[in-house]
Formats: sequence, C-alpha cells, structure tokens
Amino acid sequence: MAFVGLGVTGGIGAYKAVELTRLLQKRGHRVQVAMTRTARRFVGPLTFEAITREPVITTQFASGLNTGIEHIALASGVDVLVVAPATANIIGKFAGGIADDFLSSLYLATRAPVLLAPAMNTHMWEHAAVQANVATLRRRGVRFVDPGDGYLACGWVGAGRLADPDVIAAAVERVLAGTARTLAGRRVLVTAGPTLEDLDAVRFIGNRSSGRMGMAVAAEAAARGADVVLVLGPTSVDPPAGITVIRVRSAAEMHAAVMAALPGTDAVIMAAAVADYTPAAGPSPTKIEKGGALTLHLDRTRDILADLGRTRGAKTTPVLIGFAAQTGDPVPAARRKLLEKQVDLIVANDVTEPGAGFDVETNRVTLVSREGSDALPLQAKTDVARHLLDRVEALLAASPVTAVAPQ
Ligand code: CTP
Repeated sequence: MAFVGLGVTGGIGAYKAVELTRLLQKRGHRVQVAMTRTARRFVGPLTFEAITREPVITTQFASGLNTGIEHIALASGVDVLVVAPATANIIGKFAGGIADDFLSSLYLATRAPVLLAPAMNTHMWEHAAVQANVATLRRRGVRFVDPGDGYLACGWVGAGRLADPDVIAAAVERVLAGTARTLAGRRVLVTAGPTLEDLDAVRFIGNRSSGRMGMAVAAEAAARGADVVLVLGPTSVDPPAGITVIRVRSAAEMHAAVMAALPGTDAVIMAAAVADYTPAAGPSPTKIEKGGALTLHLDRTRDILADLGRTRGAKTTPVLIGFAAQTGDPVPAARRKLLEKQVDLIVANDVTEPGAGFDVETNRVTLVSREGSDALPLQAKTDVARHLLDRVEALLAASPVTAVAPQ
C-alpha cells in the first residue's frame, strides 16, 4: 500500500479522476486529493471526499489549520504525486517553477516521483510551448501517461484525451514499483555533456552533446535512492534536482573531477562526449589572428574510462559503463571499446539514425556486454536510463552495499 497524492486540475476529464481514485483505493492505496480552483468547476470536492473519507485540499491557506506548510508535510509524506487530468496550465507551471497554488507548490516541494496524465485540445497538446514544457519535465524525471486519440469534449478528433483511469492506475503501479529505492546506499557517478577544448580566448573545439542522456541516467539513479554525483560539461540544459553537480569545461577538468569523486563510488556511467583531442600547447592566451591556412597541433586527451578500467583491474567494482556514438552499425566498435577500456557495458548508438543521438529526447541504443548485445527499440532517453540502471543493479547485485558518507 502506498500514499498517493492526486492532483486534479481543470479539464473536462476531471470526472475520470473520481474513477481513478476508486481504482487506486481498490489496489490498497491511500489517496489524498488536491483540486485546483478550475477543477472544482468540473467536479465538486465532496465527490472525492465521499470516496477517500479525507478532506480534499482546495487551497494553500485554509484558516484554522496550520496550512501554510501543509504542502510541505504532504510533499514528504506521499510516495507518488499523480496529476490527472493535467492541463496545459499546470504543465507550464510545473515546468516554469511557478508555485501560486497548493498543487504547484506541492510539485516543487516533493521528492516523490511525479506522474502526469495530460488532457487538452489537440492543438494545445501539440503546441510547441506545451511540448517544450513536457520535454523539460521528462528531463527532470517526470513520467507521463500520454493522452489518447479520439473524440474530444471540444468536438475535435485527435490526441489530447485523458488516458483511461485503469491505464493511469497501472502506470501509478509501475512508478511505485520502479522507484523502489533499489540503489539506496549506493553512490553513482555520472558524466554528461560535451567537453570544450579552448583554442584561444574566444574559440574552442567542442561537440554536439546536450547532456540529456546522462542527465536522464542521473535522475533515474537518484529516483532509485542512489547518492548521485553528476560531472557535467558545458550545456544549456538544466541538470535534475536533488543531485550533486560538478561543472567542468575541458576533458582534463573532467578527468580530474571524476578521479576526485571516485572514492566510495559503486558505479560510473560515462555518458559524456569527452573530446579526444586538445590543443597541444594549451589555449593561446591571445586571440589567434587570421592569416593563411591554420594548422592546429592537437594531442590526445587522457581516456577517463580507460583509466578507470585500468585502475579497477581485476576487481568488479566500481561498475563501469561507457557510451559509443558511432555512425553506422555501432556494435563492432562497441565490442572493441568494451574490451580495450575493460568496462562492463557499452551503450552504443548510431547517431545518424532519426530520433537517436544528440540534442533529441529519444534514443535507440544497443547494450553491448561480454555476454552479448541487447538492441532496445527507439524510446525516450528516460526509458533508456531505466533499462541501463536495471543492468547496473544486476551488475552490482554481487557486491555488498558500503556505507556512503553523507554529502
Ligand atoms: N571517454 C572517456 N575519455 C575520453 C574519451 C572518451 O572517458 N578522453 C569515454 C566516453 O565518455 C564514452 C566512451 O569513452 O563513454 C567513448 O569512447 P571513445 O573511444 O572516445 O568513443 P567515441 O569518441 O564515441 O568514438 P571514436 O573512438 O570512434 O572516436
């Protein structure tokens, strides 16, 4: 049995939240409903109160109670926060960090997993603003039960219909099961983003990595209870909340940061696109003036993952995971890297495939280990992260949990 916080916002699908509440209770969960102002124009709080036998929260500051901090108390009590239906408005508020009512404050205050079931008009759902907000939230580890296709209350036909209550209830179960704190007591070190190698005061050599894949891994590891350190190269994408972030710029800085964070680490996931070459003489202190052809002398950077493999030697921990971004069939190169770098798993992808690679929310990867390769379908990077951490957990199963010093 779990304690479910259920946010109901103002969409015509609000009546389906009544059925969802009943289904969650039938599964043995306790449900606390919070309704926004507009939700109450569609369904009365009394309906939920009659089912849950708990007062429905409708305002941030009800007089008489010590409700100024009620959202904080509930935030730490719930095992999952579900919002169904989730309007474009609440999705925008969650993405933007606006906390102007009970539910939006609860979202910011909770560390519990969050599941949103959007419902809105097709054009609203497809609007770039809404999709950007959904992408932002997915990156932060928020899960979605995507709306279905069909006749909408507004008379349109298309995507935007609230998923059926039994589909949402099943998704709640998956979230509750998937976020068992299976990595509690473990320390996971993740690298993400590009590294930039400065040529002079204004120029650098870089690559197109956004850091999204590594951030999804970091968010998932944190959701499973791990103590997560993220060593992050320069990117404009915000890292997930609740983890320790160490920002670096160059491959050398990333190397130093990883080695410094290594003691006590149970698994290292090198999702960063580390530069393989850097200017041999370091960055020029003055701007390089243009003239004729320019020849750059570049040295190889130190391979962080290979150094970790060497340092680990015959031991089985830390678990070491690398990535291989290839053009064309990535598996042969991944297999070679697995052996050369002495790691446990390589996450290989072909960056030329649509929907895979840099700066997109999805990826199609093959997990290559000594035992063989496992080709996963195209899916959200957050789902790839789940698969990957399942493999990390399996690799860690043989090694005991060691105490992690509080950060
Ligand atoms: N890596 C690293 N240190 C480096 C370079 C890469 O730790 N100096 C890690 C990356 O984080 C990634 C894996 O090694 O996990 C990628 O291996 P690499 O051999 O660099 O592959 P690519 O750069 O993808 O490809 P290629 O070797 O073909 O250039």
